Amino acid sequence: MKSEELRRKFLSFYRERNHSIIPPSSLIPEEDATLLFVNSGMFPLVPYLLGEDHPEGSRIADVQKCFRSDDIEEIGDKRHTTFFEMLGNWSLGDYFKKEQIEWVFELFTEGYKIEAEKLYVTVYRGNKNIGIEKDREAVEIWKNVFKEKGIEAKDVDFAKEKGMQGGRIFYYPDKDNWWSRTGVPENMPNGEPGGPDSEIFYDLGERAGHHEKSPWKDAPCHVNCDCGRFIEIGNSVFIQFVKTEKGFEKLPRQNVDFGGGLERIAMIAQKKTSIFETDLFLPIIERIEQLSRCKYHDRHKSFEVIADHIKAAVFIIGDEKGVAPSNKQQGYFVRRLIRRAIRHGKQLNIEGDKWIGEVAGEVINIYKDIYPEVKKNVPFIFEEMQKEQKTFEKTLARGLKEFEKLKSEKIIDGKSVAFLYQTYGFPVELTEEMAEERGQEVDKEGFKEEMKKHQELSRELSAGVFKSGLADTGEKTVKFHTATHLLLSALRKVLGESVLQKGSNITKERLRFDFSYERKLNREEIETVENLVNEMIEKDLEVKKEEMDTDKALKSGVVASFTEKYSSKVLVYSIIGKDGEIFSREICSGPHVERTSVLGKFSIKKEESSSSGVRRIKAVLKDGEEEK
Ligand code: ALA
Repeated sequence: MKSEELRRKFLSFYRERNHSIIPPSSLIPEEDATLLFVNSGMFPLVPYLLGEDHPEGSRIADVQKCFRSDDIEEIGDKRHTTFFEMLGNWSLGDYFKKEQIEWVFELFTEGYKIEAEKLYVTVYRGNKNIGIEKDREAVEIWKNVFKEKGIEAKDVDFAKEKGMQGGRIFYYPDKDNWWSRTGVPENMPNGEPGGPDSEIFYDLGERAGHHEKSPWKDAPCHVNCDCGRFIEIGNSVFIQFVKTEKGFEKLPRQNVDFGGGLERIAMIAQKKTSIFETDLFLPIIERIEQLSRCKYHDRHKSFEVIADHIKAAVFIIGDEKGVAPSNKQQGYFVRRLIRRAIRHGKQLNIEGDKWIGEVAGEVINIYKDIYPEVKKNVPFIFEEMQKEQKTFEKTLARGLKEFEKLKSEKIIDGKSVAFLYQTYGFPVELTEEMAEERGQEVDKEGFKEEMKKHQELSRELSAGVFKSGLADTGEKTVKFHTATHLLLSALRKVLGESVLQKGSNITKERLRFDFSYERKLNREEIETVENLVNEMIEKDLEVKKEEMDTDKALKSGVVASFTEKYSSKVLVYSIIGKDGEIFSREICSGPHVERTSVLGKFSIKKEESSSSGVRRIKAVLKDGEEEK
């Protein structure tokens, strides 16, 4: 049964039972600060679960795109992904446990032809502390549906400690059988709905779990065990409660929230042992095999990381609210996903700096006819992926070399982690993963402190007198900013080292630069300054940014025009020639262009007095284009 048929069957099954089918919502939540990504089908239905009337009625079904960042560490066990599609149905105060359990059992066993004897279920054990009881009601319903298939379903408790005990229905506590968007009851914020749930597991057979080398070999096996024997394929949440200041209160409606992972259901229906072998992944895996000349089964973890991460990145970039890689919020996850995929590609010896686009192409092929937003965003997806790969590949090799140097450390200190992040673009989680592979740890707290120091420094630099005087940070404005550094350097060459910056004001049209000098400049001096600046532009000098200890920076001869106190660290921008000659070195918070040749032609329009002992220059830049 192809995944397309699984989706279709699900929706028609519930349509026949009077459900309205709603379109999937964006992966980026609407004004919901609780989470950055939609992590379950119920997300868009929260207001209705809490009591509002849904315009489509009280029975709803859909297939919803989901992203779970928490599962990023789990990738590599053949059954976890960060991105997945969730088949979902809801009762908003309409039917309850009986219909839900009977229907989902019918759908799985009749619709999807999953063998009933391979199914096991779990129910909520209850929690006295929050005043919610054991879910005996659900147990009775489960017993009945199994009975109709000729299966005597025994309910048992404490399987974690005692093993299966010949049971089919198992009680578990909050951690396993309570569901809310933020997990167990104590992690829920006030106002959040949730409730006890009942999960359905498929038995892959004893051999799937307790092989000789399994760490669970001698532990009692049970349905929630991580050994690999059982896989969860569906969850019915009975959303009956809302957390309040006073504890858990009953909601006005008794709701059902069902979710089943399409990829896992496909794995069972298509009789595979890994979700990465279903039709939702196979073309992606085959493409990675081609690119790496490795076999999936020999290196399955790296394959799964690449396939999962690129797929998730395609969906986030290609979302209705498309998010590009960045250092913030959702964008940072996209960046992490792509960079981690690239690193795993390196481990498989995949060459070139464009291959993730090829993998993304396979993802797009699988989904383009199902998700129109993906199809519509194809150029944006490729562009952003390629840009991100190019940027990272530029520093990756050097970063890995730096990382090599740290191999004798037991714990990699925060400063080094921050350096790898700031200079080579290694997300901290990536450094952590690489360290772990070598049996090292990283000082995450130290890293956070380093970053905090850095942020404070940037804030200080941009808020205080060091504020570079920029009206905005558009491309044109940034060019003018770099030009002011060249201008100061030229003025000091022509008029002497007593010249210091007294202020600046930069817009996208022009720069205004104040500096200390006693008299009006003559025409020849102005021309010489202008020529010097243009020479530096033509030399295509490199603009280099460094964070330095303040003492060291001051000793190295930076031009520190301000007399204010500096914090212990400063940012220093140097403008350097090919032979290492330094044309300018200033304490500055940026931003600047990377090379001077992009500035165009520099021209001084005015030189006048600003105040006593201070002169003012106004200057413009003309693009090469305009000149012609
Ligand atoms: N919202 C429930 C889940 O994600 C169905 O498991």
